Amino acid sequence: MIVKKIHENIGVSIEGIDLSNLDDSSFQKIKKLWLEHLVIIFPNQNISDEDHIKFGKRFGDLEVHPSLSHRSSKNPEIYRVSNVDENGDIIPNKETSWQYLKQSWLWHTDSSFRKIPSNGSILHGISTTNEGGNTLFANMYKAYEDLDQSLKNKIKNLKVIHDHDYIISLSNELSKRKNKGHYDKLDPVVHPLVRRHPSTKKPSLFLSPHTMVNIKDYDNKKGRELLDQLIDHATQPHYVYKHSWNNHDIVMWDNRCTMHSVEPFDNNNIKRIMHRVTLVGDLEPIMA
Ligand code: SIN
Repeated sequence: MIVKKIHENIGVSIEGIDLSNLDDSSFQKIKKLWLEHLVIIFPNQNISDEDHIKFGKRFGDLEVHPSLSHRSSKNPEIYRVSNVDENGDIIPNKETSWQYLKQSWLWHTDSSFRKIPSNGSILHGISTTNEGGNTLFANMYKAYEDLDQSLKNKIKNLKVIHDHDYIISLSNELSKRKNKGHYDKLDPVVHPLVRRHPSTKKPSLFLSPHTMVNIKDYDNKKGRELLDQLIDHATQPHYVYKHSWNNHDIVMWDNRCTMHSVEPFDNNNIKRIMHRVTLVGDLEPIMA
């Protein structure tokens, strides 16, 4: 197993292994590196969806995404993060399913709309592009650690309302439409703004701009300003690794201490097909 750092603050790449045929000792090493480095790039892993699911299940149960139109028809645990439908055709820009998916271009943490958000995600780049379409990952431990003490005191016991419907309200197109798509019903949830990782015990900022409606029991305008200030801080380049994809890279990240976003690309002309499995979380976020 060849492990290399890819950024001063976040991420390693691992080569010399086959994720479809992994012995237990390699799996344990990967788990440790994932907790330590937050993001792992596995280049050159041309594996089937079934092997992708099998690898994900070694970490525990897998989520089924609430958006019905993005589940793979063959394997519901596969979330199709793609501007291409299952027949291989580009989804027209105006289509509701694309307008929903396009919201993943915004900074977010997967499944922050759930009472128990996801532990981590594993994304297989099947058809990738380097004309945009890079994925950015931010280290939320480090972003928290670097805040000055007065700001840490200010945000200490704050809670944030997260709502799946907020994703839709952020889309200019979808918010105007009667048919906003088909999703499992999810009620709003409340999460701490600063969370403690259950395994590493380290505190981090818990931001997911696409679901964060506002701070609970806080002035709306001031709450928005505070959240925007924290988002601007956490997305500075020294906290962020930008991944330029090659086909069959697999990227795995820890949703409990990172957030990510996607650089826009020309979705009318470039086919970008990514398959994700999402690890079910094991407990509600712990306030730090
Ligand atoms: C995601 O938000 O999980 C997908 C990221 C990507 O498409 O690169």
